[in-house]
Amino acid sequence: MRKNNVYIETYGCQMNVADTEIVLGILKKQGYEVTDKPENADVILLNTCSIRENAEQRIYGRIGNLKTLKYKNPGLVLGVLGCMAERLKKDLIDEKKVVDIVVGPDEYRSLPEYIDIAFNGDKGIGVKLSRTETYDDIEPHREDGLSAWISVMRGCDKFCTFCVVPYTRGRERSRSLQSIITELENLSLRGFKDVTLLGQNVNSYRDEHPDNEVDFADLLAAAAQVDRSMRIRFTTSHPQDLSDKLLYTIAEHPNLCNYIHLPVQSGSNRILELMNRTYTVEHYLNLIEKARKIIPGVSFSTDIISGFPTETWEDHLATIEVMKQVRYDGAYMFKYSPREGTKAFKMFDDVPEEVKSKRLQEIIDVQHQISFEKNQELIGTNEIILVEGLSKKSNNFIAGRTDTNKVVIVPVDEKIKIGDYVKVKINKATSGTLFGDYISHIEIAKEDVTVSV
Ligand code: 5AD
Ligand code: SF4
Repeated sequence: MRKNNVYIETYGCQMNVADTEIVLGILKKQGYEVTDKPENADVILLNTCSIRENAEQRIYGRIGNLKTLKYKNPGLVLGVLGCMAERLKKDLIDEKKVVDIVVGPDEYRSLPEYIDIAFNGDKGIGVKLSRTETYDDIEPHREDGLSAWISVMRGCDKFCTFCVVPYTRGRERSRSLQSIITELENLSLRGFKDVTLLGQNVNSYRDEHPDNEVDFADLLAAAAQVDRSMRIRFTTSHPQDLSDKLLYTIAEHPNLCNYIHLPVQSGSNRILELMNRTYTVEHYLNLIEKARKIIPGVSFSTDIISGFPTETWEDHLATIEVMKQVRYDGAYMFKYSPREGTKAFKMFDDVPEEVKSKRLQEIIDVQHQISFEKNQELIGTNEIILVEGLSKKSNNFIAGRTDTNKVVIVPVDEKIKIGDYVKVKINKATSGTLFGDYISHIEIAKEDVTVSV
């Protein structure tokens, strides 16, 4: 009997979620069936993340658990994909004998062959990075739903000194505009309503033609016109490359979400320079101010690293100061984690663990307070939400999202269905959630350019 059940787990960022769909697209074409139970699988794949040490530790733990399935089913193939595969290469197999294949992010087309090698009892290793691979022509395997991710560019050329991504995902390259638009058209036909365009640094997107060059703002403008009832989001933006043209494009199209994820990383110019972030705090704050003028009501989220090498108490306070000035709607906050092979790895990791933890906690507390205050300000206002389903906590409530990416909870009402746009009045707020009452439905035609979604 042919072995053809594949089970996959995804760790890390949304790029990995999108890559998992590409991997399943490739395997399904070869006749594999997807299973959601590891016990039923002939092939188990872990699509991994290397961004911080604890991400890798988690995956080592999971490999340890899955070992027991191999005792029961010795023919089972266990594969590691993604950033950890690329970073550790053959070492991963030497260290973890249970691992049969190690395949990096640019070698997924050859995955079926590596799996066959493993079925024949050998180890398969594919970790070459490519300057051109974008999986442009691969149809990702997606379950039906409301939200989808499309990776529009791969890799990163920024080389922030703390970050392993340029080494694990290689050089920047973009997909063709046409292939992205075709994918959006298909998603629209299938009823998807919320699509995020992904890249490590989407503002570097380029589709070069002899007579004209298409940049990320052009791609967004084209994406917005596919279906006006579909919300378009994007992530991640680098503060050095976010153009005025992009801001005006967001302002112009009602279905381009008024939400920008703009990692600041630190509020200290000295630390930003050591991080090779290539902008100053002043440049960053000017950008925020400009974006707020051009796109009224735009919301921002950020990434912050606490305890980078040589970070002093003053540097830490400068980060808190930036948070208070910008007043982010949300933040992803991390302790610095040294990654082998990066420039910062050679710097002395001199901020003690307890100090990193204390600074991180302070940053989290400040953000919590800001999110709470900002959400309180929304009480009494009307918002349009896309209804996503029942609330996680109670079947008596429905959850939806504003275009600024805030979750709103409203009482169940038979008029309201998944995928509807509804206007709600906010009546209560915590730091993470808004609560509202239903007011009315908002109908948006595919061609409608007058209504914000
Ligand atoms: N340590 C801690 N955080 C990191 N990030 C990237 N590399 C590291 C590291 N070595 C964070 C950055 C980035 C986000 C995706 O992860 O804030 O924006
Ligand atoms: Fe890493 Fe910097 Fe590239 Fe983001 S921009 S992926 S933090 S190197």
